Amino acid sequence: MRPQRVERTVDKMVIEGGHRLEGEVSVSGAKNAALPLLAASLLTGEELRLENVPELGDVRTMVHLLRRMGARAESPQPHTFSLQAQELTATEAPYELVKTMRASVLVLGPLVGRFGRARVSLPGGCSIGSRPITLPPVGLAKMGAEIELRHGYVEARCKRLKGAWIFLETPSVTGIENLMMAASLAEGETVLENAAREPEVCDLADLLVSMGARIEGAGSERIRIEGVKELKGGSHRIIPDRIEAGTLMVAAGITRGDVLIREAKAEHMQVMMEKLVEAGMDIRLEAKGIRASMEDRPRPVNVKTLPYPGFPTDMQAQIMALVSLARGRSIISETVFENRFMHVNELNRMGAQIQVEGNTALVVGTSELSGAPVMATDLRASASLVLAGLAAKGSTCISRIYHLDRGYEAMERKLASLGAVIQRVRE
Ligand code: UD1
Repeated sequence: MRPQRVERTVDKMVIEGGHRLEGEVSVSGAKNAALPLLAASLLTGEELRLENVPELGDVRTMVHLLRRMGARAESPQPHTFSLQAQELTATEAPYELVKTMRASVLVLGPLVGRFGRARVSLPGGCSIGSRPITLPPVGLAKMGAEIELRHGYVEARCKRLKGAWIFLETPSVTGIENLMMAASLAEGETVLENAAREPEVCDLADLLVSMGARIEGAGSERIRIEGVKELKGGSHRIIPDRIEAGTLMVAAGITRGDVLIREAKAEHMQVMMEKLVEAGMDIRLEAKGIRASMEDRPRPVNVKTLPYPGFPTDMQAQIMALVSLARGRSIISETVFENRFMHVNELNRMGAQIQVEGNTALVVGTSELSGAPVMATDLRASASLVLAGLAAKGSTCISRIYHLDRGYEAMERKLASLGAVIQRVRE
């Protein structure tokens, strides 16, 4: 595992811009569904089979974490995992893993729910904002767990969690997922108010229900969970990745191409698609997926990121790349994370004209971007640089591409199959 990661850190992506994308491409399983669903394997001693698991850096990290705790995690064929956590040798998520992937914290709820104990490192800040992890420990304390913060770790202990009424101050996605998993095995009823409504939360609820959990209201602001004594194994197919689908749509638009994105689910992407249409894209639902195309220069749009069903923060950098080429000015406000504009300086180095003030970016559209050496700073920022590179004149070299590999499966292969001139280079 480790040597692989070291190799990835030196990969670069070189893109020769200006090639129109055309054809069909499949979207992979959702990263943000795969991570909690993998963690859910800790809730039962029986076997859990997951299909449509994307092949990603973050998935490898979660599988690594499960194995380190003594769970069995095998992949009998690509995109399928068979998991079993009969007995664990440890109930701990160490700092060196949590710091590379915040979503490692997702093991906290299931561990406390089933084993009555967990020791999980807090991740600390990250490049897109301070992102405190407060909700899961506070929620678990309300459910009767003894919580201590020691040496940078949350330590939780209890006999059996008890159902509780919990109001979530922010509708945090991984926060609600953690508590939903914990409450599934608690004694009595838990009500989670102000719950995140993301499709990935619903996918987790669907899996848990198929394992015997009693959950109502996932996808709404109030989730009710009647705890059960035990959960059983099961089999589940992970939903398609709406952010990857959206990124591929923008790739079609920014190259004035025409791409059919197979398996993309329109009902998970309503607001995103409305904004892309407002920006001048033609988006059509077909039997096999969603067709996205664009003939002219983009139109400017104003975007405000919000929790689901609002415009996703995970698509903010990508739509910014698109409207950097618009005929006119766009205003993009980031309300979910405090510091998620790190792609701006890199896009500006490619000729974009973007100014940031507080949580708002003013994007003055330009008619042309030019290729440049740029640096990826986080996952979605990397995607926006790839998109800009596809449209730019000349060659763009993106370093630190390991950020992209955390969340996009075979991005360069998918884009190349559509006609992009893109290559991964190992230094
Ligand atoms: C998830 C997604 C991530 C996406 C984000 C917002 C996963 C694995 N990751 O991240 O891709 O960008 O949702 O859609 O699903 N907050 C608190 N206290 C907490 C937790 C969060 O105040 O305990 C705040 C955060 O600082 C942020 C907001 O809540 O301002 C949203 O964060 P959250 O939904 O928790 O993000 P993640 O679940 O980490």
